[in-house]
Amino acid sequence: MGQEFNPVKLAQEKVSRVLGAGQWAIDATVGNGRDTLFLAQCVGPGGKVWGFDIQEAALAKARLLLQEHGVDKRVELIQANHAAMDNHLPRELKGRIRAVMFNLGYLPGGDKSIITKPAETIKALNSVLSLVAPGGILSVVSYIGHAGGGEEYEAIKKWCASADSNKLGWKCETNSRDHQFKPAPVLFIIEKSLKKASD
Ligand SMILES: C[S@@+](CC[C@H](N)C(=O)[O-])C[C@H]1O[C@@H](n2cnc3c(N)ncnc32)[C@H](O)[C@@H]1O
Repeated sequence: MGQEFNPVKLAQEKVSRVLGAGQWAIDATVGNGRDTLFLAQCVGPGGKVWGFDIQEAALAKARLLLQEHGVDKRVELIQANHAAMDNHLPRELKGRIRAVMFNLGYLPGGDKSIITKPAETIKALNSVLSLVAPGGILSVVSYIGHAGGGEEYEAIKKWCASADSNKLGWKCETNSRDHQFKPAPVLFIIEKSLKKASD
């Protein structure tokens, strides 16, 4: 029997390879805060994490989780659409963020009608391109099972292909498994090369 494919865990595993103490990271979809907590633990007391979610209910839960683990001081939670993240982040972050995580769809245990949307997700991904440091990473977990999820997955697949083919110094990798009974989630990993795009 093969190991069960867990894209959320795999995303954290990949991020943990490049994100370390004192560094900076972004959680573009905070939700219940588990990825935010993971990022905060990776960066340690000298690092910083910026987390976005449009729902106050999500941020309230995440805030509690971060407080319980004593890492809330190193996290800035922002109630805003990630498509507008540029308006909320200090300019000095450009080119200095080591990891950005997106875990798309709806808030588990919350209102399932509030979901990430393809156009906003792509806008956020485009903003992130200028923020990530060489050697940094971007993870995107995309769910196909809910209404609108398939459309969002297709938009990200196309975006990844263009980031890859434009020789912008990005490498995209898609991780998925066939699932017998339901559409399986997909993990996109996008890494920024250490070399300049023109090298
Ligand atoms: C699958 S959950 C995230 C799970 C979370 N990473 C965790 O570890 O618990 C997706 C979240 O994205 C949020 N969301 C939806 N659209 C958004 C947007 N445009 N900008 C920021 N967050 C958004 C939802 O409110 C929801 O909380």
